[in-house]
Amino acid sequence: MDQSGTLDALLQEERVFRPLPRVLAEANVTPQRLAEDMARAQEDYLGYWEDAAEELDWFKKWTRVLDDSNPPFYKWFTGAKCNIVFNALDRHITSPNKNKLALIWEGEAGDTRKLSYYELYREVNRFANALRAQGVGRGDRVVLYMPPLPETVIAMLATAKIGAVHSVVFGGFSAKALRERIADAQARLVVTADGFYRNGRVVNLKAIVDEALAGREAACVETVVVVHRATMQADMTEPRDVWYADLVRHEKPESPTEVMEAEDTLFLLYTSGATGTPKGVVHTHGGYMVGVHHTIRNVFDIKPTDIFYCTADPGWITGHSYAVYAPLLAGTTMVMYEGHPLYPQADRVWSIVERHGATILYTTPTLIRMLMRFGKEYPRKRDLSTLRLLGSVGEPFNPEAWVWLFKHVGRSECPIMDTWWQTETGMFMISPLPVTLLKPGSVTKPLPGIEADVLDEAGNPVPPGKGGQLVIKKPWPAMFRNLYNAPERYVETYWTKYPGMYLAGDVARKDEDGYFWIQGRSDDVLVIAGHRIGTAELESAFLAHKAVAEAAVIPVKDKIRGEVAKAFVVLNEGAEEGPELVKELKEHIRRELGPVAVVKAVEFRRELPKTRSGKILRRILKAEETGEAAGDVSTLED
Ligand code: PRX
Repeated sequence: MDQSGTLDALLQEERVFRPLPRVLAEANVTPQRLAEDMARAQEDYLGYWEDAAEELDWFKKWTRVLDDSNPPFYKWFTGAKCNIVFNALDRHITSPNKNKLALIWEGEAGDTRKLSYYELYREVNRFANALRAQGVGRGDRVVLYMPPLPETVIAMLATAKIGAVHSVVFGGFSAKALRERIADAQARLVVTADGFYRNGRVVNLKAIVDEALAGREAACVETVVVVHRATMQADMTEPRDVWYADLVRHEKPESPTEVMEAEDTLFLLYTSGATGTPKGVVHTHGGYMVGVHHTIRNVFDIKPTDIFYCTADPGWITGHSYAVYAPLLAGTTMVMYEGHPLYPQADRVWSIVERHGATILYTTPTLIRMLMRFGKEYPRKRDLSTLRLLGSVGEPFNPEAWVWLFKHVGRSECPIMDTWWQTETGMFMISPLPVTLLKPGSVTKPLPGIEADVLDEAGNPVPPGKGGQLVIKKPWPAMFRNLYNAPERYVETYWTKYPGMYLAGDVARKDEDGYFWIQGRSDDVLVIAGHRIGTAELESAFLAHKAVAEAAVIPVKDKIRGEVAKAFVVLNEGAEEGPELVKELKEHIRRELGPVAVVKAVEFRRELPKTRSGKILRRILKAEETGEAAGDVSTLED
């Protein structure tokens, strides 16, 4: 797909921001260290990653750093034995981190819970024992359908500790989405909460679980563990449903950590693709822990006194890698918030920073754009002087919002790390370090040990300023290893277009200085408020409505969320178009896919543009919408 024409015109940003002398002197990776790392990674790429692995504890060291004998099924640290939880928790209990806070959690109503490393360790052990008592063991899949609670972190770690595989399903997903994920993973146990607080209301999570489990596809589930969080009546189905508190009450706070192979699966996380059902991205213990530990230390410059506030929900990869695993691996203190960022008013995020003394804030452009609307008075009213570093992820950061964050939150002192990565990459790939010269809107350059490029359709690097496909040219430790139950899809989606290279599915360009600018997805995937959702999923949800005969969905620009969906719909005979039906369809999509799937507009059509072979040409609808050229239309039916 050639999008370069439109892309060349985007983002002409010329401002640059230099790191302050203090940052240059104090960063974990100084300019000199960065030059050395770059040289080392160039000369001895495997040696570079081997050094990163040496920063962690292993039960047994590897015989090989990278096994690339069967590409694209790469293996890292083969022969090694480890468990990510040993590094995230166990080893801190015999270090000065033992009594340090691991987690500061805040509920929407303002209630807080704080757990030291030792306390978290004991809670994880209790739940690990409880899981074992339920018959869950190595390799079994456990689905977590949870709001952001301390128990979410505990359940993730307990699952990994006993060698089982977690699959966290974002609490904003629908019963249907949950059922699909449970069925694909054939999970035996589900952990959920009775409800949680969001925007002043109680969300009845347990009812959604019940609906998901009502289908035959989810018959694999034997046990549902329910964390009590909200004041509400949960319907418990005995003997399937058990309260979390009842389960852990008599369990000992000691529990053995399973010795895993480095390549054993740690978790599955489902993400939307261009076609078909969501893909179960597979991550492993060894390489993943090396990648996320190394990158949080370097990019977020973790110091012993840091308090790290990541606004991502644990249901997304950002929550997995940089709200749970990496902070704990690095022995830092993390802040987690349950509720809506505007509740009870637009200063909640700033008030959390102030009250907990956060030093690092990692968030999304959508949230910044949302908060920006309320004006700089909100951050100004709060003491944000503890902040020393800011981070962004998930979508292109428009320079206007970048500069607002830099000035009004970061006092023009805190560098902004705009980190490009994906569910599949597991860890930061293209990102500044604190010492990097910043250009608002650019994710700057690949990190040491990462080789990225922008290619044209024929596989040649594009000249500066031209748009093309973003690729990664060498394997990296935290890379996903496969798609669950779908190895052919793994090969075809990511490794076939350019043999030997990873196709990210993003369009990017490089500038004269080699800085990368991410333009958006190159496939039929929307990024709504930083959350991926496939046109295929949206269209099939539309088709599930009785009024709809055909549907095509395209992304359209949105001031706050970056992108949202617009649908073109052909109705069945007898269905009546009009605002009532639009409203009903929007509600239907929300029910089918959850609130993540924001549909801005529905347009009724007599027919949709199609190729002679009957494929919908979304490209033409997009061109109509933006007023740009549609490109090659020779395959269009009359
Ligand atoms: O399009 C890119 C966008 O988010 C996609 C990955 O989505 P997901 O797997 O859900 O992971 C999001 C959090 C890591 C990418 O293909 N994306 C991610 N980070 C950036 C970004 N777009 C622009 N700038 C970023 N920093």
